[in-house]
Amino acid sequence: MSKKFCLGLLLTADTSRRYCHALKYLDRRHVCIPLVLCHKIKANFESSGFHICRSNQTKQRIARMSLFNTDEYLESIDPWGYEENPDDLLRKEYFSNFLPKENFSRVLDIGVGTGFVTRDLDFEHFIGIDISPTAVKFLNNYFENSGKKETHKVFQKSILDSDFADIGVFDLVIITGVLYPHYLGENRSVVADNLSKVTNMGSIVILVHISEWKPFTLDSSFVELDRWLYPYRTFMHEISVLKRIK
Ligand SMILES: C[S@@+](CC[C@H](N)C(=O)[O-])C[C@H]1O[C@@H](n2cnc3c(N)ncnc32)[C@H](O)[C@@H]1O
Repeated sequence: MSKKFCLGLLLTADTSRRYCHALKYLDRRHVCIPLVLCHKIKANFESSGFHICRSNQTKQRIARMSLFNTDEYLESIDPWGYEENPDDLLRKEYFSNFLPKENFSRVLDIGVGTGFVTRDLDFEHFIGIDISPTAVKFLNNYFENSGKKETHKVFQKSILDSDFADIGVFDLVIITGVLYPHYLGENRSVVADNLSKVTNMGSIVILVHISEWKPFTLDSSFVELDRWLYPYRTFMHEISVLKRIK
């Protein structure tokens, strides 16, 4: 089954409930569907664990929506087997070695998941965001149990949210394994806008992604300071360190 497909259906509130149920089995990732905007239909998708984002091509009442299942952690708290995989243990080590040796006072990890990469690093103030309520709960508990509750907080939030700026401004923004079309659809400009809201001139952004999955690149307000490619599972992974210059 392809990871992305389009349907031209007009859903009633009732069929949308059944449709959500079917989608969970068909495709857990990313679905584009022209929907008639209707609060009941929207509510059905959201209560079924899908996150709905309107694409830029919205036309009058018919909108193209991207639906994302918000909780990949429901069946397992380690859905991709990071905790035991030697390649993931290596990527975690590479990340901490690659981190610029500056004293970052405010750090944001977007799509933090269970914090596999960043939860044990020594940051003064750390905020993680993720769309998965299960991952958010896990990581908040982890910080509470490690005595970091006052300085390390995790919120359920999407990088596509219109109120993204509310989380504040950061010296360092980390995004690992999130800027893929299967999570973000065609919403590049929303991601760029939101990143500009949570960074200042001089802020550092670190992106770590599978090269072959064509992650987003940032616009010209960021310059790349460093980049490194290394083998990861059956792919190549790239770490890119960028600085905001305007
Ligand atoms: C492949 S996992 C990577 C987790 C972690 N960053 C790491 O590298 O170990 C992708 C994460 O992005 C989160 N995610 C997906 N779409 C998102 C969005 N729109 N906003 C924030 N987080 C998102 C998922 O819930 C998941 O935790």
